[in-house]
Amino acid sequence: MCGIVGYVGTKKAYPILINGLTALEYRGYDSAGIASMEENKICVMKDKGRVSNLNSIPGLTDLTGTIGIAHTRWATHGKPSKENSHPHMDNSETFAVVHNGIIENYNDLRKFLTDNGYKFLSQTDTEVIPNLIHYYFSKESGDNKFLSAVQKATADLKGSFAIEVLSSLYPNQMIVVRKDSPLVIGKGKEGYHIASDIPALLEYTRDFYLLDDYEYTVIENNSISFYDKNLNEHSKEIKNIEWAATAAEKNGYDDYMLKEIYEQPTAIRETIGSRLKLGEPCDFSDIEISKDYLSTINKIYIVACGTAMHAGLTGKKFIENLCKIPVEVDIASEFRYRNPIVDSKTLCIFISQSGETADTIAALKLCRENGAKTLAVSNVIGSSITREADYTIYTHAGPEIAVASTKAYTSQVVLLGILAVYFAEILGSQSQEAIENIKKDILELPQKVETSLKSADEVKAFAKQIYGEKDMFFIGRGSDYNVALEGSLKLKEISYIHSEAYASGELKHGPIALIEKDITVISILTDENLVEKSISNIQEVITRGAKTFIITNLDLSNAHFENVIHIEKTNPLLSPILSVIPLQLLSYYISKEKGLDVDKPRNLAKSVTVE
Ligand code: AGP
Ligand code: GLU
Repeated sequence: MCGIVGYVGTKKAYPILINGLTALEYRGYDSAGIASMEENKICVMKDKGRVSNLNSIPGLTDLTGTIGIAHTRWATHGKPSKENSHPHMDNSETFAVVHNGIIENYNDLRKFLTDNGYKFLSQTDTEVIPNLIHYYFSKESGDNKFLSAVQKATADLKGSFAIEVLSSLYPNQMIVVRKDSPLVIGKGKEGYHIASDIPALLEYTRDFYLLDDYEYTVIENNSISFYDKNLNEHSKEIKNIEWAATAAEKNGYDDYMLKEIYEQPTAIRETIGSRLKLGEPCDFSDIEISKDYLSTINKIYIVACGTAMHAGLTGKKFIENLCKIPVEVDIASEFRYRNPIVDSKTLCIFISQSGETADTIAALKLCRENGAKTLAVSNVIGSSITREADYTIYTHAGPEIAVASTKAYTSQVVLLGILAVYFAEILGSQSQEAIENIKKDILELPQKVETSLKSADEVKAFAKQIYGEKDMFFIGRGSDYNVALEGSLKLKEISYIHSEAYASGELKHGPIALIEKDITVISILTDENLVEKSISNIQEVITRGAKTFIITNLDLSNAHFENVIHIEKTNPLLSPILSVIPLQLLSYYISKEKGLDVDKPRNLAKSVTVE
């Protein structure tokens, strides 16, 4: 959510800042602003609306400073407006701050500062930060006054923050610190680049410092220093991130979403990597879960949000079928407030593409406090969740830029499948033959996904027929129901069409009352064992006038349905990876027909870093 950019180097800062904000636009925002250090004065330019609006602010192109901070805001406190946009300054205009996150105790801090003579010009929680820094700075003496004031001010903050601070009294310095909100620092050829995420900086570098909570970082000219919570200095390892510099570009596609949909065969190959080979045990040597430990586990929780939670629903089927361990899947924002029964015999798996989702991270911390081991499934190396978890496994799907998740979902499902096979091998819960069969099916997935992608023209033609509709239904049984949930979420996100996903067998228990002439019902039908019942459910809606669109790997010719998309057969557990693809394409083409911004749907953010 929102984005932070910073630069300390030898080039003019403002074009680099605007370029960085543009690269972060996909995260979702409502206002933008920058501050550049011009000699000994901080020059702030900001406004509500798009990043491109900044280009028309008079004086922008006159900026020559080589150190600057920038922000795209996703308003939490105070409406989107110029006054509420970041950067914010203290009353004396000595300190400028950009902030991502929420200061939960800002009312108390605001009262304290007001009682001490400070005035507030915005409704934001953020504005307490520069004023608090000023308050402590005015009471400090000694060499390290700036750093010390930032440390004292941030120690007072409750909530989440990633901040960059400039001071006109220290025109060559920037201080950066985070707690529970993302921030990375890249070391480029011509200076240090700061951003909320790695893809925004791939054009400058692949060498990154991944900051821990309360790790105070001072960047000055060509040097960078790291300090812990008590301001003891320490050295820090730089990490090389292997993503290609072009990975975050559109590479000729109209939209990132379409590019990412077509990247799925490659992404799945990368996810499988060297973990799974025929005739050899799965390789999870990076996490090394022992038989002793796994044998004590009597329950697994899979906790996540949105699409990642839908991947978890399929993960449950893998683990329960292959390992015979009961699995509960929950939405992170519900799980954390329902006193879940978690102890040392529970393994808790958290799925998050970004690795920065606030509710998922909070749920993980809760499980850890209750004595459970935690395993993170993430796509972003070094993201917050991976630093909190006992074990981490990466999907290696490459950067996902479009807000609507596609390749991250299929990679998560594949990785959960391989994890379940690994657990089954450790526990001996499946015959060697069954293990080898499912491995073969997993290895064939990339090529079978290619076949699903070939449905694009048919799907596009159907999208043209139905894009004007207001409501739709998605139905399926078993794993197909999980895909129905994901298809319905995709449609809502990027086409703004209301839809409901139902387990086909539930229709008669209420929702069938809503089926009327010409309503679209999208069915997923891939499980041979359930085919007859599912066909009856489709007939029931057709009888009531519904128009159907069916995704199947079965021969339904006897049923004479219209709009049938054929995908390849695979192990029923794995079919969600193939059947979701026409649904991703359907929501994409409907959104295009409606002329909407596919990659940046309204009200949504790529990474939800607030609760
Ligand atoms: C997916 O299309 C959504 N944008 C959203 O549901 C997303 O999956 C969810 O916010 C979780 O994100 P995460 O995987 O980064 O934790
Ligand atoms: N809470 C701050 C505000 O509303 C920061 C929001 C953000 O992360 O963009 O201004």
